[in-house]
Amino acid sequence: MKQILLFCAAAMGLMLGGCKSADYKVTSPDGRIVVEYLPSKSGNGAYSVVVDGDTLLRQSRLGLVAQGQNLEANKILEVSRAEVNETWTQPWGENKQCIDNHREMAISLSGDGAQVTLRFRVFDDGMALRYEIEAPVDSLTIMDELTEFNFAVDGDTWSYPASFETYELNYRRMHLSDIPDSQTPCTFRTNGGVYGSIHEAALYDYPEMVLRRDSVSKILKADLAPLPNGVKAYIPGKFTTPWRTMQIGRKAVDLINSALILNLNEPSKLTDTSWIKPQKYVGVWWGMHLGTQTWTMGPQHGATTANAIKHIDFAVANNIQGVLFEGWNRGWDTWGDAQHFDYLEAYPDFDVKKIAAYAQDKGIELWMHNETGGNIPEYETVLDSAFRYYQSLGVHTVKTGYAGGFKGGYLHHSQYGVRHYQRVVETAAKYQIMIDAHEPIKETGIRRTWPNMMTREGARGMEWNAWSEGNSAEYLATLPYVRLLSGPMDYTPGIFDIDYSTAKADRKRIEWNGPNGHCRVHTTLARQMAHWVIIYSPLQMAADLLENYKGHPAFQFFRDFNADCDWSQALDGEIGEYIVVVRRAGNNFFLGAGTNDESRTVDVPLTFLEPGLEYQATIYADDPDSSDPEAYQITERTVTSADSLSIQMNSAGGQAVSFLLK
Ligand code: NOJ
Ligand code: CA
Repeated sequence: MKQILLFCAAAMGLMLGGCKSADYKVTSPDGRIVVEYLPSKSGNGAYSVVVDGDTLLRQSRLGLVAQGQNLEANKILEVSRAEVNETWTQPWGENKQCIDNHREMAISLSGDGAQVTLRFRVFDDGMALRYEIEAPVDSLTIMDELTEFNFAVDGDTWSYPASFETYELNYRRMHLSDIPDSQTPCTFRTNGGVYGSIHEAALYDYPEMVLRRDSVSKILKADLAPLPNGVKAYIPGKFTTPWRTMQIGRKAVDLINSALILNLNEPSKLTDTSWIKPQKYVGVWWGMHLGTQTWTMGPQHGATTANAIKHIDFAVANNIQGVLFEGWNRGWDTWGDAQHFDYLEAYPDFDVKKIAAYAQDKGIELWMHNETGGNIPEYETVLDSAFRYYQSLGVHTVKTGYAGGFKGGYLHHSQYGVRHYQRVVETAAKYQIMIDAHEPIKETGIRRTWPNMMTREGARGMEWNAWSEGNSAEYLATLPYVRLLSGPMDYTPGIFDIDYSTAKADRKRIEWNGPNGHCRVHTTLARQMAHWVIIYSPLQMAADLLENYKGHPAFQFFRDFNADCDWSQALDGEIGEYIVVVRRAGNNFFLGAGTNDESRTVDVPLTFLEPGLEYQATIYADDPDSSDPEAYQITERTVTSADSLSIQMNSAGGQAVSFLLK
C-alpha cells in the first residue's frame, strides 16, 4: 500500500525574512511533533522542535563549512511538501512489515555559490533532517558541520562518550545540561517526560557524527570524525548527507518500537535475497577469550578439523544452522603487531575443503572469519578473491573484525572507515555473502538497502566478561534503549557457565588479555537466555563452550528459538532498569525480560498471542530462593491471550519464555 502526496511547491523567489515563519512548519501525522525552519542570515538557517506543545529544541543552527567554497545558503527559493503513508516489507528484521508514515518539508536555499536543500521529515515517532548540496564544483572539502541540538529543557541522557575509534565503552548517565560530548545513539528523557534519541540514518561516504558541546555557544552540536589531515570529508559537488535523526516517544519502549531509522533508508538494492538467511550459530570462539584455546596454531589451537566436525555435529543435533570458526587462517601470530592476515590460506590442521564438504552434507552453514587487525589496504586487495573463494566453498557468512588501529592514522569512524565498511558489504553481496562486522561503523539502517549487512558488534559484547570488569546488569538494561536503537547487535549471548568453572578446571588454560581470575558473567543464567530475545540479531549465537550446553535442560530454549522473527514488540521497561521484549517467529512467540541489580516482578498480559489459540509456555526463570546465578526453574503452562504472566527476576536476573503453538 503506497500513498504519496506532493501537495505544495511555493515561495519561489522569496527573500530571507520575506515570509511568515508559519510557512515553514511541518507537523507529524498525529499532530504532536512540530518542526519549524527558522530562516537566518548565516549558515543555512536554523530549526526548532516542539513536542505536545512544549519546545524540545529551541533555535538550533544548521550549516556546513567547506574549504574554499561558501556553503552558506539562506535565500529561500522554494518550499515543497509531501506526505507518505506506506507499508513496506523486508526479508528479515525485528518486523518484516514496517509502516512509513511521515510528512516532509524541503526548503531549497541559494547562496553565493551553492544551493542547499534542507529536507525535514516528521513521523509520529520522531523527526529527521538532511542537507542536499549542489555546488558548482566537482568536489568539496568539508571542514565542519554546524547542526545543533539546542535543548530547551533539562533531563537525563544515556550514552557512551564520543570516540572516533571505538564504541566499546561503558554508558554514562548525565544531565542533558552537563553532557560534554556523546556518541550516538544519544538517548534522553526530559524532566517533562519526553523520551528521545539522537542518531543518524543512511551513513554513506561521510564521517560518523558525534555530539560535542561547543566551547563558545555551550550548545551540543554535530562533530564529524576527521581524516588524518584534519579534513572531515571529501565529497562530490552534488551530495546528500546522512539524516540527522531524533526518535521521540512518551514511553522508553516507544524508542525501541520505532522504525524511524529504517524508514529513512532506501529500499533494498538486492533483488534476489533468497540466500540471506537469519540463523542461530555456535562457534570456536569463547575458548579463545577464556584462554583454553588459541587462534594461532599450536597444542591448544581451537579451529582444528576435529573440533570443526564436533561443532557441526552439535549444530545438527540442536537445531542450529551455522558454525563459526575463528583462527582458521594463517596470520594470527602477527595480530597486534604487523597485522598480516592471510584470508585464503587455512592453517594446516584445519582441512577447509573437508570441513566445507562435511558442513554442506549435513546442511550446516559454514562461516568464515576475517580478522583484519585494522590492516585495510591489505584486506581490500584480497577482498574480491577471498569472497569468491568462500562462495566456492558454499560459505554465505563472514564475520569481520577490526581489532587494531588503521594504518596511516585513519580513524575507524572517519569517512575512510565508512567507505571501507561499505565496500565490504557491497563486495560481499556480489558473492552472496552476509556480513557480521565486529569493531564496525555504527548501524544507521543501511540493512534495509543492503540486507546482507546482517549484524554487527559496535558496543561492549560478551567478550568483555572474559577479560575485564565485564558488563554490568545496568549496562545490559541500558543497551536496548541506546545502542540497540540503531539496529541488530552480535553480542554473542548465552553463557551458562557463569563463573567459568569449566575453563578454570582446564589445566592448560593460559589467561588471555591480562589476568582473568576475577572475571565472570554478571547476570543470572536465565538472563543469559533472555538476551537471545532481548538483543535482536538475525544471526544469534549460543556463545558458550559446547560442553556447557550438553545435557543442560535450559538449552531447550535455544533449540526452540527461531532467529528469523516476523514481528517484535518491546512491552515494558525503563532505561537502565529493566526491559521486556516479545518476538513472533512463524506461529511461535519468544519473550525475554531482564533487570538491573534490583530484583523485580513485572506483570505481562499475554494479549500479543493469537486470540483463541492455545500455546505451550515454557518458562525459564531465576530461582527466587537462591543467590546462585546458575540456579533456575523451568515451568510448563498452557496459556492463551487472556492470561498474563508474573515475571519474577532476581538481581541481575531475567526470564526467557517460549510460547509454542499447541
Ligand atoms: C574482537 C571481536 O569482537 C571478537 O569477537 C573476536 O573474537 C576478536 N576480536 C578476534 O577477532
Ligand atoms: Ca570487539
